[in-house]
Amino acid sequence: MELLRFITCGSVDDGKSTLIGRLLYESKLLYADHLAALEADSKRVGTRGGELDFALLVDGLAAEREQGITIDVAYRFFATEARRFIVADTPGHEQYTRNMVTGASTADAAVILLDARKGVLSQTRRHARIVSLLGVRQVVVAVNKLDLLDYSQDVFEEVSASFAEFAAVLDFDEITCVPMSATEGVNVVGRSELTPWYDGPTLLQWLETVEPSVRRAGPSRFLVQWVNRPDATFRGLSGRVLGGTLRQDETVRLGNRTTTIARIVTMDGDLTEAPTGSSVTVVLADDVDASRGDVLGDAQDPPGSADSFQARLVWLHENGLLPGRQYLAKIGARTVGFTATKALGLNEIGVDTVHFDVAVPFEGYRANRDLGSFVVLDRLSNATVGAGMIDFALSPSNVRWQTLTVDKQARIARNGHRPCVVWLTGLSGAGKSTIADLVEKTLHAEGRHTFLLDGDNVRHGLNSDLGFTDADRVENIRRIAEVAALMVDAGLIVLVSFISPFRAERALARDLVGGDEFCEVFVDTPLAVAEQRDPKGLYRKARRGELANFTGIDSPYEPPVEPEIRLDTTTLSPQAAADAVVARLRTLGVC
Ligand code: ADX
Repeated sequence: MELLRFITCGSVDDGKSTLIGRLLYESKLLYADHLAALEADSKRVGTRGGELDFALLVDGLAAEREQGITIDVAYRFFATEARRFIVADTPGHEQYTRNMVTGASTADAAVILLDARKGVLSQTRRHARIVSLLGVRQVVVAVNKLDLLDYSQDVFEEVSASFAEFAAVLDFDEITCVPMSATEGVNVVGRSELTPWYDGPTLLQWLETVEPSVRRAGPSRFLVQWVNRPDATFRGLSGRVLGGTLRQDETVRLGNRTTTIARIVTMDGDLTEAPTGSSVTVVLADDVDASRGDVLGDAQDPPGSADSFQARLVWLHENGLLPGRQYLAKIGARTVGFTATKALGLNEIGVDTVHFDVAVPFEGYRANRDLGSFVVLDRLSNATVGAGMIDFALSPSNVRWQTLTVDKQARIARNGHRPCVVWLTGLSGAGKSTIADLVEKTLHAEGRHTFLLDGDNVRHGLNSDLGFTDADRVENIRRIAEVAALMVDAGLIVLVSFISPFRAERALARDLVGGDEFCEVFVDTPLAVAEQRDPKGLYRKARRGELANFTGIDSPYEPPVEPEIRLDTTTLSPQAAADAVVARLRTLGVC
């Protein structure tokens, strides 16, 4: 029997629990013990004068599931004679966007619940927007609590019209509004005489007949999760069918190679075909090179590969998305570097241009949700901070990496020493530039090839277009990290003296340069001491409110967690601090 997955959205007060409880009850799929408990609870709580309170039922199930582990989305199963259903019940509050995104990403249809007395609220619009964003095309609006308005046709029509007007800009194929009372069971399962003016379907009739949003047809797609090679005689690709049906003897494309599927292997023997959703091991006719994250597909209509996209993003973390900051994106079975170009705050949704640091196999989200969606992770904490849906790839760049004859090794041989980056970070007035200057003086006197990149100086030229917002500082450090990496290629010992307040961008610099050639120096001067020194008078200005976004005052500084060197400038003189850096560089073999 066909399966329909749907999501219910609405605030708790709109009657969501009651509605789901009623659907479960009337489709007679409640377990007997749950029913007994419900009767007892309903009598005890007495909210419905001894009648069954369906809200108690659903809340009870949720509480039961939530013991031990936190479940954000509760999935419930029920069936009628026409269909089987999985309903994703997600909490309605704004901070639960993440759960809604999770629930809606697998949904074929959505039930948007609203209280007829309140009409279309900003909450309702928000739910509809997320549902649309996640590719749900079929929507039913349950205009609930009409019992409290004497089943007024006027109110129902008014609310329906205002939803339709707002939703016209969204990507829905079908919007149906149903006048309803979940507590009284009006138009939930059976038709009601209380709304003689309504001739549309009841909620359940709609659910039983709606065309699912997720089409499981389409060209075959197989995601390689690992290369299965138990011994020299067998080589298979284990993974999941993410689209269409994979068939034995089918011609498939993998990257730029074409081959055929020789066998589809499972624990229970070979198959001749594997539908979307199945996990199988594929044996190819030719020994084609494949690795985790590759996608095999119909040779006539293979998946694309690209590194830049127009995508819709939902931001899920209180630290907003910073344009240009390096994040990670998990797409298919790959984790790759990720940047976006526009700022987004918590729970904000936007269309943006995004870049991955390598090309990945993909499909537009509309065609294939699995290959068209990704999650964004923080580079340092690995926390999920956002989710994205690919609209389409942007044209590939024609820029290729050029191999050059005189390389870093040649420069090392000529210079007689290794290059590296000495990255000094710390508050304004901490002493970074003074120490860096002394270090360079010593190295230069010893005949080393050096260069000093200083924040104030670089901000006069290369970075004169940047100010001190978080986004500008991210870009400031990104450019300096790139310049420092070039200078390492040029064979230099590069001294970098920037506040560089964010861990993420310092980590990016380390990644770009390579850990062996990167030495992070934390010039550790407490704010009170830096402020007392105040060599440029900037702290005084900031305190007087004449300078905005000043580091340490109204802009954050994230101290290094594990710097190679920490210099306590309250006990070390600038020369002693510089000597400590040079001594460390000697032990690292740089000089
Ligand atoms: S960073 O945060 O983007 O790394 P950077 O090191 O380039 O900063 O520049 C810091 C220098 O700019 C400070 O030493 C100070 O002289 C000057 N400056 C001017 N305004 C600010 C500000 N709002 N915050 C910090 N430094 C500022």
